Formats: sequence, structure tokens, C-alpha cells
Amino acid sequence: MNLPRHVAIIMDGNGRWAEARGLPRFRGHLAGQGAIREAVEGALDAGIEWLTLFAFSTENWRRSSDEVRALFELFEIVLREETPELVKHGVRVHIIGERHNLPESLKQAIIEAEEISREADRLHLVGALNYGGRQEILNAARRLQESGEPVNEETIRRGFYLPEMPDPDLIIRTSGELRISNFLLWQSAYSEIWVTETYWPDFTKEEFARAIEAYQQRERRFGGVPQG
Ligand code: IPE
Ligand code: IPE
Ligand code: MG
Repeated sequence: MNLPRHVAIIMDGNGRWAEARGLPRFRGHLAGQGAIREAVEGALDAGIEWLTLFAFSTENWRRSSDEVRALFELFEIVLREETPELVKHGVRVHIIGERHNLPESLKQAIIEAEEISREADRLHLVGALNYGGRQEILNAARRLQESGEPVNEETIRRGFYLPEMPDPDLIIRTSGELRISNFLLWQSAYSEIWVTETYWPDFTKEEFARAIEAYQQRERRFGGVPQG
């Protein structure tokens, strides 16, 4: 049935969702928690193995310190609230991105979520938090410089946050922007991209299913020629 093995989502449009309702931007981030549940349910229903959600980029520090702080508090709440329920459904939680400059309590919540879900094996749910594709590639390059290993695709990949994560087959972006915004730069080399105008808080599992259907109509060539 040509199902994508890994779907990755750039969850965008929370601020505009709130502004359209005359609410502060943060209310849009809060409303995004429901859309995360929708995406996870969509992935479980479809039988997807890996789902990655882009939650905070290395460039999102350019926002006001109030917004950044509120987002970190929200991530902590979401991890603590959702993980026990996720585990019941066989969802294993992983977080990729830079951890050193995150608040201590958030770091702790990440460690606990990964720990309590480590035996789950139905769906790998990856949160990209303080994640940047360039940063990930830089980390891998520095690791190779220090270890002196040969430089090839395999050794580069070994330096990534989650080396066992397959490349995304499908990248979904909400809110209509047509850019990658430093998400999974290396891994997206041959990803199919699907963009919806829907703001992230309004995203549903039905829309997730539509994205999968659209993916199934695509012809992936990986640089080759169409299969007659
Ligand atoms: C996505 O929504 C959430 C994060 C990047 C943390 P935005 O906050 O970027 O919403 P817009 O793009 O301003 O509408
Ligand atoms: C991308 O959204 C990052 C996340 C969804 C976490 P942004 O809203 O930060 O992207 P730009 O700034 O519009 O490219
Ligand atoms: Mg945005």
C-alpha cells in the first residue's frame, strides 16, 4: 500500500491562529496540544512507524523571552501529561535537538518521557526541540574530526541525534509556508513535501490521512527515471 515509513511535520501557524481570534500568540501554542494528539492518532491509525514533530527550532530563540519561556513550560507539561497515555498505545518518545541550554526541569521531563516509554514499539514519536538541521550536521562533523574516522554518509549519520531514525518519506507543513526552516536538512534529501493552509491548532487526523493519500499518488524517483 506504499505507506510512508516516516512522516515528519513542521507544526506552523499557532501565532496566526491566535491572532485571527484576537488572542495572544501563546493561546495558539496551547491549542496546538490537541493537534499533536490528532497527528499521533492519525499515525497510529495508518500504521506509520515514525512520526517526527518540529516543536522548536534553533532559530526560535529570536522570539521574545516571554514566548520562549512559555513554550518551554508548555513542552514540559505536554511531555508529563501525554507520555503515560502514549505508552498505553505503544508510543515510544524520543527528543532530538540541543539539550544543554534548555531549562533543567524540561531536561528532566525529557529524560523521564524517554525512560518510561522505552519499551513501547508500535510508533516512534520524535519531538524536534531546540533542533536545527545545520546544528545536527555540525555536531556530526565535529565528532568525526575528533574521532578521526573516515568521512562517509554512514559515519556522518552516526553523529546525528538519533542515528536509527530513517529519513522522512513525507514532510507535512501547516499554515501554507513553502520552506523547510532548517528542519532535517540532511534527511530530507528525497522527502516528498505536502503543504496545507490549515493552521496547526486546526490540524486533524482526517487531514493527516489526506496527506498520506496524496503521498501514495506521488512517484518517487530518487534521481532515476520513471518506472514504465
Ligand atoms: C509554530 O507556530 C510553533 C513554533 C514555531 C514554536 P508559530 O508560532 O511559528 O506561528 P506563526 O507562524 O507565527 O503563525
Ligand atoms: C518552523 O516554524 C519551526 C517550527 C515549526 C518549530 P517557524 O515559524 O519558526 O519558521 P519560519 O520562521 O516561518 O521560517
Ligand atoms: Mg511560524
